[in-house]
Amino acid sequence: MTLQDLYELAIEMGTNSDPRGKETVKKHLIKTNENYKKLKDNDKKYFDKENLTNPYSDSRILNGDPKKNIKKVLAGIDAEASEVLLVDRLNQKGQKIDALISHHPSGHALAGLHEVIDIQVDMFAKAGVPENVAHALFDIRKAIVQRKIKPANHSRAIDAAKLLDIPLLALHTVWDNLGNKFLNEYIGNKKYDSVGELLDHINEIPEFVEAIKGKAAPSVVVGSRNRRTGRIIVGFTGGTNPSKELYIQLAKAGVGTLVEMHLPEDVIDDLNKLHINVIDAGHMAADSIGANLYLDELEKKGIEVVPCSGLIRIKRNKS
Ligand SMILES: [Fe+2]
Ligand SMILES: [Fe+2]
Repeated sequence: MTLQDLYELAIEMGTNSDPRGKETVKKHLIKTNENYKKLKDNDKKYFDKENLTNPYSDSRILNGDPKKNIKKVLAGIDAEASEVLLVDRLNQKGQKIDALISHHPSGHALAGLHEVIDIQVDMFAKAGVPENVAHALFDIRKAIVQRKIKPANHSRAIDAAKLLDIPLLALHTVWDNLGNKFLNEYIGNKKYDSVGELLDHINEIPEFVEAIKGKAAPSVVVGSRNRRTGRIIVGFTGGTNPSKELYIQLAKAGVGTLVEMHLPEDVIDDLNKLHINVIDAGHMAADSIGANLYLDELEKKGIEVVPCSGLIRIKRNKS
């Protein structure tokens, strides 16, 4: 497989597991193409043309020749300059790693992270929040995320990858979509007697078993084990956490239990007052689920995978 094949496989898998549904994603791409055609020549010059075929601004080839043949990858949750150096060091020791794959993006894929937050408007609408309210509040959230990320030095990994000539691929929302779909199907429509029963069920997922051993177990951060779950929703994708106002809207819409990868500290008191339950599944283990589903596909196609940087590698391949 070439680097481009790895990238296209990821986009395809991410689209197939997108919480908005494949058709909505397709419509979104058609709209982007129509809007692009209407742009003035000067604006077209700066338009990221990958957006015309890839609906995820935070998933990109960040360095390397797309035609490069890839047989072995180093894959992690974060890839900073240190992971780029790690590839170089491992190759010095004879490992022959052809590319580095990171879940959390860097460079323009990070600077464009706010664009994928739109996914959550549909997720919130599905959860019962009026879509106009979700849309307005996510617009505010997007602007905050964009302002926060903008001044950061987010090109360090790419700069290091260029200097050492190491292909670098960021797959953020595509992996989060896979993890989100997996957990939704895993929880299913089963009736859980309590939040504790739901938590115990989640804790049986191998990535979380490893997290428990590492003292990063999923836990109830709002509510308690003995409470009833009410309606359960999973929030594993869509760029980053919603704002406090958006969490409040979920509670008002009748969501009883929320399963998240991480929860900002400033929302805990308010959510407690609304009697919603929140299970914090734990960031690295939760991110590892989507990563593993993609990496299993790479292995099926004969690519060797070396995990690093927080990735808890669990194989679901039968062979
Ligand atoms: Fe993630
Ligand atoms: Fe993450």
